[in-house]
Amino acid sequence: MIIYDKKQHIFQLNTKSTSYMIGITPEGYLGHIYYGERLQHIDGGYLLRMEEYPYTPERNKREKCVFLESFPMELPTGGIGDFRESCLDIRDEHGCLGTEILYKEHRIYSGKTPLEGLPASFVTASQMDTEDAGTAVQTLELICQDRVLGVEVVLSYTAFEREDVITRSVRVHNRGEQTLTIEKIYSACLDMDYEEDYELLTLPGAWARERRIQRRRIGYGRQSAASIRGESGHQEHPFIALVTPGTTQTQGDVYAMHFVYSGNFLGQVEVSQHDMIRMTMGIHSYEFGWKLTPGQSFQAPEVVLTYSSEGLGKMTRSLHDFYREHLIRSRYKNTERPILINNWEATYFDFTTEKLLDIAQTAKDCGIELFVMDDGWFGRRNNDESSLGDWYVNEAKLTGGLKYLVDSINKIGLKFGIWFEPEMISPDSDLFRAHPDWMIQIPGREPTLSRAQGVLDLSNPEVEEYAYESVARILRSAPIMYVKWDMNRQLSDLGSAYLSKEHGRELLRYVLAVYRMQERLIKEFPDLLLENCSGGGGRFDPGMLYYSPQIWCSDDTDAVERLGIQEGTALIYPLSTIGAHVSVCPNHTVGRNTPFVTRGHVALAGTFGYELDVTKLSEEEKALIREQTEMYHTYQLLIRNGDYYRLASYAENHYYDAYMVVSKDQKEALMTFVQVLAEPNRRSRKVHLQGLDPEAVYYCDVTQREYTGEILMKGGMLIGDLWGDAVSRLYHFEKR
Ligand code: DGJ
Repeated sequence: MIIYDKKQHIFQLNTKSTSYMIGITPEGYLGHIYYGERLQHIDGGYLLRMEEYPYTPERNKREKCVFLESFPMELPTGGIGDFRESCLDIRDEHGCLGTEILYKEHRIYSGKTPLEGLPASFVTASQMDTEDAGTAVQTLELICQDRVLGVEVVLSYTAFEREDVITRSVRVHNRGEQTLTIEKIYSACLDMDYEEDYELLTLPGAWARERRIQRRRIGYGRQSAASIRGESGHQEHPFIALVTPGTTQTQGDVYAMHFVYSGNFLGQVEVSQHDMIRMTMGIHSYEFGWKLTPGQSFQAPEVVLTYSSEGLGKMTRSLHDFYREHLIRSRYKNTERPILINNWEATYFDFTTEKLLDIAQTAKDCGIELFVMDDGWFGRRNNDESSLGDWYVNEAKLTGGLKYLVDSINKIGLKFGIWFEPEMISPDSDLFRAHPDWMIQIPGREPTLSRAQGVLDLSNPEVEEYAYESVARILRSAPIMYVKWDMNRQLSDLGSAYLSKEHGRELLRYVLAVYRMQERLIKEFPDLLLENCSGGGGRFDPGMLYYSPQIWCSDDTDAVERLGIQEGTALIYPLSTIGAHVSVCPNHTVGRNTPFVTRGHVALAGTFGYELDVTKLSEEEKALIREQTEMYHTYQLLIRNGDYYRLASYAENHYYDAYMVVSKDQKEALMTFVQVLAEPNRRSRKVHLQGLDPEAVYYCDVTQREYTGEILMKGGMLIGDLWGDAVSRLYHFEKR
């Protein structure tokens, strides 16, 4: 899979349908030759344009600055004459910023080395054993050095054959005598020719409007997606893709980068003077600075790259497979997730033991399996203005205590889950009164609160220990099988009473502490089902997926709004990761009424659960829940493991939405169709199915007739007789 051609000094990394090529110049610069459709031969060193001399009148003279401004670098460094975006900037002891890395040697090996302290993709021993079935995973490490700084820089590439993914990361070792500061380190770069009018696809959003698909034409200069909020955020997503004009689900070139990290990031494309595109991704350099004393090293997080010559759908399925196989570790990844009911939209802060038990009993009667107690069970928290940090049970509300509640819920026949927001501190809390210096803030400045709360300074190990123990102590006290880990504000006022001046820009320590805490949690409680969350879907990123197999997708549970949010999320994340619940109408975020059936169908394209006061539902609605829980059991395996195809987008056509999941063996498929807005005097709509076996005959449960896979895909399926707005239908196809 990974080949080194000694004569041409070219590395070629092959996956099932892609190839990636790197060349070494005589001086030792690492140049990017090619990324695209799979190649059968190693050739193409000439694409580095080593013989061209733009601007230099003397044709024999190869001037360095001209070279640096136009050479396609694998990892461009800053300060020495390449004025495009750099990926590595190191400042020396004298205050000079200049880095230049040249190839020294390389290593190629099977498998992949973990990234210390960071979430990252992996290969399990059993996956390695079955390698010859086209599932090989190999790593290339290019070891480079900057002799002046005395640093060694390792560029790591891992090729995942079956999933058509290449991951990249960078490690810097200080092997010299001086203390250095890394001022910028991005993990991946793709320098390509600006041959097409590429569009940049990003996933911007807002609270309750997360991950809307946006495409814009790029031009000269820099255009980006970024977060400086201390988390990945609702507003931008650590994902960018370059697509050729007219790219659809099935056609067009797609180059995608996705960051396995949960803090500040930058994903950027820059079109430069010589018609080149530089696509980069890494930790944002805002408030970033990392001291590296002699002997120390720094590991940058990983970027997932994928290329598709068959449009967005192929990219989606490569990423879904990759995350399911190589990033999510939880034992729940391959088991049926319990259908949960969460009391947030049912009660908000206003609940008692009695009320929760009532909900649990009715939920049990409807076929629900897990009860989750959300915010408001601790300290004096009767609204969102106090008590974060005081993680002891409010027995005035929960009479009998937590253990009594959990035992009673277990007796009803449901498992128990609980909500935490471990990274936070309310100024109105016993914790703050005892440790005001544990909150992130700038000395002498009134801290900016958000939702009346501050953030704990997790760079301080004592604070980290307190936060971890707060959660673990509660989990040790009762049989709790699920935790929702929330984060309801972003980071500002970046001052730490703990960190010294030289380490003041090491915000990364915060993110590393969150990772450490979640790692400890899932190790200490191996049966725990962890769901990450951040004020809805503000920390839905691959870094978090490494710890939790599911993430709360959005606080907007309206079925129509969810179509767009889940479309954007499912573009890059498997359905099994998308936290989705049926809630009450009128919907609490938009006031819209949608049929109960539609809410169930939309939530089915996710982890599936409920978030409403079931005790207030009519008998008819409760009967619908019973039907829906049955529906979930019937289809959950297909939805969790199948291939996802987007057939029509309500966000684009404004009338209807359609998507389907096909089992890996193509024996069954489930299509969801939602008529969002009805139109009068309209013939049936035609939807072209995808992913079926063209030679097979499928039986459809709705029309009760048989079709060839070929006609369903080429001719299309007709969808008629839906009446009203926001009505939906599931079509199940089974191979005869
Ligand atoms: C934000 C989450 O997204 C909600 O589901 C809920 O848990 C609230 N926080 C509680 O404060």
